[in-house]
Amino acid sequence: MSVSSAGNGARQQVFVLVGGTGDLAMRMLWPSLAMLDQDGFLSDDLRIISVAREDCGTEVCVDRIGAAVTKRIGDALEPETLARLRKRIVHVALDAAHDDWGAKLKAELGDIDRLDIVYFLSVSPSLFKPICEHIERAGLNKAPNRVIIEKPIGRDLATSKIINDSVAHAFDEARTFRIDHYLGKETVQNLIALRFGNIVFEPLWNAQSIDHIQITIAETVGVGERLGYYDEYGAIRDMLQNHLLQLLCLLAMEPPAALSSDALRDEKVKVLKSLKPITAENVLTNTARGQYGPGFADGHPVAGYEAEKGSPSNTETFVAIKAEIANWRWAGTPIYMRTGKCLPSRSTEIVVQFKPLPHSIFGPEAVANRLLIRLQPDEDISLTLMNKAPGLTAEGMHLQSLDLSLSLVKAFDSNGDKPPRRRIAYERLILDALNGNNAQFVRRDEVEAAWNWVDGIVKAWTDTHMKPQMYPAGTFGPVSGYRLIERDEGRTWND
Ligand code: BG6
Repeated sequence: MSVSSAGNGARQQVFVLVGGTGDLAMRMLWPSLAMLDQDGFLSDDLRIISVAREDCGTEVCVDRIGAAVTKRIGDALEPETLARLRKRIVHVALDAAHDDWGAKLKAELGDIDRLDIVYFLSVSPSLFKPICEHIERAGLNKAPNRVIIEKPIGRDLATSKIINDSVAHAFDEARTFRIDHYLGKETVQNLIALRFGNIVFEPLWNAQSIDHIQITIAETVGVGERLGYYDEYGAIRDMLQNHLLQLLCLLAMEPPAALSSDALRDEKVKVLKSLKPITAENVLTNTARGQYGPGFADGHPVAGYEAEKGSPSNTETFVAIKAEIANWRWAGTPIYMRTGKCLPSRSTEIVVQFKPLPHSIFGPEAVANRLLIRLQPDEDISLTLMNKAPGLTAEGMHLQSLDLSLSLVKAFDSNGDKPPRRRIAYERLILDALNGNNAQFVRRDEVEAAWNWVDGIVKAWTDTHMKPQMYPAGTFGPVSGYRLIERDEGRTWND
């Protein structure tokens, strides 16, 4: 497929990647752009401007990009893709601390009235304000131009408001695209299809039929070189406030009236606002905090978080939370969430545990149904159903559980076809931003409602002096993480 005109009328599209030589850009953003280009999703005349403080020149910059894309994509990369991508890119050295940032960019852009510019600010949030000011002062912010910003959007509600206000000065809400890369993952998008594209789940999707839900994002890696950032944020701000709560919203929201961005996001905000506050009274039973100590994870010995930091720290690298949604659909059905670094396996999964049969004519053999949605390391959705064990038995019928895979990748495999390439989450999101579709981006009121709930938990931790408990690297978090779920009879993590 070849796209000959830009997404916005006759204007030429320009993608301005601020932080173009940074870590995220090299690992994720350039490879995503390359694959969009390879698959024909970029308009033929799309230009890409890489902006960074570093004055490396376009030649060196595109060489580095080429190496990063090749490393990330491997065999799926066709030789002509890089050549085409290189032709689109110009690198401009700009320092946000200098007043000429906007003027220099404008000179590079040319006739701005004929352009449709998408800015991606892949830089520290402390630079959002000065960069947006430069863009505005140079008159580069006018519609249809839009901006993509990355988390963290603040450290709490108050600081997120400051960041959002500074961006809002230059770009209105409809043109502010807040990325949560989990929303670009194929299986996360499939959650919407599964819930609202089938009639079979919806009548059961409530507290009457669902016992509880678990969401786990487990990582084997430690904090590595991001310690400076991470120590200020911890697992609750780095992962739970955004990725885990977005997954919770998609699982718990009411059916939206349309697939439009506001219809979806209105429903997500309602969920966030229905989360029961966690306070000093229940924080000890409804949350667990951990920090990895010495151990062995990701195939390597780990010295422990404090040893890596070189000083004591109260930052959690593991958090587990029992969330309750106070509305008719979910009252009485908790959602347990957990995430952590230096855990034994890398896996992201959602377990929707249905209730047991009200009366089993098969005795205890009839195990309750379960929907398992795996996002990582592989993508799969499977439903555990009870089934008759084949054959004859003297004492009557025996049951066995059957995992029914609903996964497209598996369907391709079993037909002997090549499964579709697993896309980088940013591919979907960059494409949507280029097309001006913000449905899979996070609206300001979502961010603020999420912070409001998380701030309450952090305050309860402070008020009760609840410190992280040490867990050996390579284990699934502290004992309190297990107790959080096992305290509720008959429930355990799906490890
Ligand atoms: C990022 C966090 O948002 O998500 C990182 O800042 C984390 O700490 C990463 O490692 C995990 O993303 P994924 O897609 O690898 O699960």
